[in-house]
Amino acid sequence: GPVAVIAGGLSHERDVSLASGRNLVRELRARGVEASAYDFDRQLLHSLQRDKVVAAFPALHGQFGEDGEIQTLLELIDLPYVGSSSRACKVAWDKGAARELLHRAGIPVPDSVGLSATTFRDIGATALMEHVMHRLGHRVVVKPARGGSALGVTGVDGLGALPSALVETYAYCEDALVERFYDGVDVSVVCHETPDGLTSLLPVAVEYERGHEFDFSARYTAEYVSLLTPDLPDELTTRLGEVAREAHRVLGLDDLSRSDFLVSPDGTFVLLETAITPGTTETSVLPFACTASGTSLGEVAHGLVRRAVD
Ligand code: DAL
Repeated sequence: GPVAVIAGGLSHERDVSLASGRNLVRELRARGVEASAYDFDRQLLHSLQRDKVVAAFPALHGQFGEDGEIQTLLELIDLPYVGSSSRACKVAWDKGAARELLHRAGIPVPDSVGLSATTFRDIGATALMEHVMHRLGHRVVVKPARGGSALGVTGVDGLGALPSALVETYAYCEDALVERFYDGVDVSVVCHETPDGLTSLLPVAVEYERGHEFDFSARYTAEYVSLLTPDLPDELTTRLGEVAREAHRVLGLDDLSRSDFLVSPDGTFVLLETAITPGTTETSVLPFACTASGTSLGEVAHGLVRRAVD
């Protein structure tokens, strides 16, 4: 039977997931793996059983995909799948909870404050701004505690803009994370498991056209985003790989993850977050990191499918 690449679903990142899924199906087929895309809808379990699917490869981003829901269903029907367990997803999906674990493991994470919509109502905008300024300064980034692709993310310079940024975030998630703004380069490291253990690919820097740092559509438009292998000191490259592997282990992830860092000009860094189901679209980091590291998305995906089935 075929491998089911599960893509689409009902999250804000539906279209991104469809693009990720298309790429994965194409790459797996090019390596002789029978693969087809399946949407995450009411027919899904029926279709997987009808088609005698041998393994699933969730390529769902955002809610229902990275929060452990699909993994719980696959575990219920005992279908082998690529990626992290439902248990690990539930923790890693919440940026605040994940950050707490990473921090306790000694990994540098940004200073941040969690603010739920309820807290916003209880405390009020003025007191909130004072609290945040006291803790984090006046340049901050506001983001949904759960979610991806920069949806609902706003950079705030001067805390007067904080309340409306929070309101924007609450449209995506009732819990917001406000973090200190760090000047630096956005560097991502992909980890994938092989029979020899956990491998980290070369760090990839993600650069957005000025002013489009938190712009969802820019992220998926080739003219606005450039991916490159940054010219980092060897020690820093090694260190980022080590920390990405450490984060993968601390969060209890399996098969695949992508850790996103902000690296300052002085070589210090913070780990912003670790993605459970990294995008595999044309402008995503993972396929680029594979090629830059002398492998390919197809080869890595094929290896992960074999691991799931064996
Ligand atoms: N959330 C997007 C798909 C990513 O992490 O690549």
